[in-house]
Amino acid sequence: MTEAILLVGGQGTRLRPVTVHTPKPMVPAAGVPFLAHQLARLAAAGVDHVVMATCHLAEVFEPHFGDGSAHGLSLEYVVEDEPLGTGGAIRHAARRLRGGPDRPVLVLNGDILSGVDIRGLVAAHRERGADVTLHLTRVEDPRAFGLVPTDADGRVLAFTEKPQTPEEIVTDQVNAGAYVFTRSVIDTIPEGRAVSVERETFPGLLARGAYLHGHAEDSYWLDLGRPEALVQASADLVRGVVDSPAVPGERGESLVLPGAEVAADALLAAGTVVGAGARIGAGALVHGSVVLDGAEVGEGADVRRSLVGAGARIGRRTVLDGAVVGDGARVGADNELRTGARVWCEAVLPDAVLRFSPDDPAAPTGRRPQTTEGLQQ
Ligand code: GTP
Repeated sequence: MTEAILLVGGQGTRLRPVTVHTPKPMVPAAGVPFLAHQLARLAAAGVDHVVMATCHLAEVFEPHFGDGSAHGLSLEYVVEDEPLGTGGAIRHAARRLRGGPDRPVLVLNGDILSGVDIRGLVAAHRERGADVTLHLTRVEDPRAFGLVPTDADGRVLAFTEKPQTPEEIVTDQVNAGAYVFTRSVIDTIPEGRAVSVERETFPGLLARGAYLHGHAEDSYWLDLGRPEALVQASADLVRGVVDSPAVPGERGESLVLPGAEVAADALLAAGTVVGAGARIGAGALVHGSVVLDGAEVGEGADVRRSLVGAGARIGRRTVLDGAVVGDGARVGADNELRTGARVWCEAVLPDAVLRFSPDDPAAPTGRRPQTTEGLQQ
């Protein structure tokens, strides 16, 4: 038996407004809550018992995943009254583990899409006799991550959280958010208070002489912390760039869920997902994007690398490129929202053209950049 703890209780602040109504691990990627991909990969790797460590919007997980039997798993849920941080959440969830002190326990961040060989990670932990084994991946720009330099045998030498100076960037290996703990090591994490596994537990274990092993593997890896990554992950799942048994349909250029309506001459490309009950108008282009359930994209709209929230409406001819439109928001016709633009849930942006008469010297000659009023950059 292999057991896992899934950390799914974070606030997901970097992903707002997507996470206002939905916790990050429940945001759909390739047509199903992101978590479904992780559960499918765990089940495929022979994991049979998973404890979900919930906190923010805790109530939404169990109604969706139940006892886990539909996913080939036994699922349990624990709820934190106050956020306990990553380490505190692991300690709190460990009360539901069934294995003995020497057993390996997988711990996964709930916001990582990864092709890591889960069996290989557990096998490496066993072979090395490590206290904790960490999946490490290499990134081009490590500044937003926790760096984990290792020696030639993979023994972890240090932890540097989010390095700021060039001197601090001693490696391109970063903490990939998947660990194997020997169960007894979890019991050394303090109980009943917030603990960061990255900033407190791992450095503390190193200081006490514990053996932390870095398992470097350069399979597909994406941290879904930011909206552009979430949109990318969904498109990669649809196109089969990364494999998940949970994608509901064939791999291809687009995935249209049952009940969606797509005009005959609309073009869906680059891994776009159109959610249940969503509508795509005539002549619209939707490229590498996520259109959630019940949303509407107007005629002639041009939507690229963007996320359109549940029930949101995008007006005719409006251009979205690298934008996020929250649930229930309305973006009027002829607007143009570019990289980094975020429209809050339920916000309303009027039609762009209505503000000018055709003779107005200030009127745009073509599509003009829309005002950022009401937007968060
Ligand atoms: P940001 O607010 O955008 O940084 O996102 P986040 O809250 O998800 O934080 P982060 O990405 O650092 O979290 C890594 C993983 O740990 C995610 O899967 C979170 O859901 C989870 N997590 C973070 N804090 C907590 C917590 O206090 N309790 C629980 N149960 N999980 C947590």
